[in-house]
Amino acid sequence: MHSKPKAIITGVEAYIPDYVLTNEELSTMVDTSDEWIMSRVGIKERRILREDGLGTSFMAAIAVERLLEATKTDPSEVQMLLCHTVTPDMVFTATSNIICDKVGIKNAWGYDTNAGCSGFLFTFETVRRFIESGAYKKIVLVCGERMSSIVNYEDRTTCPLFGDGAVAMMIEPSYEDNLGFQDSILHVDGIGRKYLYQTAGGSLYPASHDNIDKRMHFIHQDGQSVFKHAVVGMADVSEEIMKRHNLLPADVAYLVPHQANLRIIDATARRMGIEKDKVLINIERFGNTAGTSIPLAIWDFKSKFKKGDNLIFSAFGAGFTWGAILYRWAY
Ligand code: UT7
Repeated sequence: MHSKPKAIITGVEAYIPDYVLTNEELSTMVDTSDEWIMSRVGIKERRILREDGLGTSFMAAIAVERLLEATKTDPSEVQMLLCHTVTPDMVFTATSNIICDKVGIKNAWGYDTNAGCSGFLFTFETVRRFIESGAYKKIVLVCGERMSSIVNYEDRTTCPLFGDGAVAMMIEPSYEDNLGFQDSILHVDGIGRKYLYQTAGGSLYPASHDNIDKRMHFIHQDGQSVFKHAVVGMADVSEEIMKRHNLLPADVAYLVPHQANLRIIDATARRMGIEKDKVLINIERFGNTAGTSIPLAIWDFKSKFKKGDNLIFSAFGAGFTWGAILYRWAY
């Protein structure tokens, strides 16, 4: 009789748009500079899906197709597909359903999740529970964002920050070696809705000329307030999950943090006592891709990981939402 399976990642593939929006180009659009963006945030460039008529599902479907090919999975084998996004193609239907249709996944069910920049953590926790139930053998977790669709490129306080992209992961059960998803600490506090939000287009402020005139369909952020909460929240949970598992800095192979601001990442790593070379950072090339940023870093750096490596995934985002996952790399 097997004990409960663990959820393991068996494939990670991505789609990154070709267009590179550099700090130099942004400096021609708003009053900003490469020097300000690099020193305050750490972003050099971000990818943008510029073509009209393409939504998040365009990028996510390509990432899923690549995943099916890389893992030699027939679409009919997939039992569930969850899509995390704050930029769904439409308010409804769910982007997960659209992706399944585009890639020919016909025997699965699924839905979208929305937990801001902590979305990967929250969705992976959900997937993990389905896998641990023993009832599911192949779940696709896809995170995708077309953040450029909700960014106001006249607002210098937000437009340098965000980028687009999609990453798909195959999650399967493993009964061996105590690998895969070990533990999580996840939090929400709705007080954060005052500091980071897109108000228009939902049921509270349905689409109208008035709220478009007021730019309510774009992202708004009180950067300093979010920063203060993020620095404490991300560091707290990352340290807490280490303590809970009696992990010393030497026991952690890599911290894979949400990529919102290099200074937040540095503060988290300092609190954990982790050396710089164990912190996986690609914010410079991709900016903040919201809930997609941790999967994008996993995809980017997966060749570094060895079986049994302890990874800590850690994020803070709109809501507020925040948390950390302890994951043991499985291949
Ligand atoms: O991913 C989801 C969670 N989000 C986050 O974790 C983001 C958290 N917040 C942050 O990362 C930072 O607060 C920002 C990067 C958004 C802003 O950095 P900051 O160091 O907090 O800057 P600030 O908002 O305090 O602004 C400092 C100054 C202001 O000018 P004054 O008032 O001092 O004259 C801004 O107007 O910098 C100015 N500023 C800019 N200057 C050049 C703001 N944006 C820009 C810009 N270029 N793009």
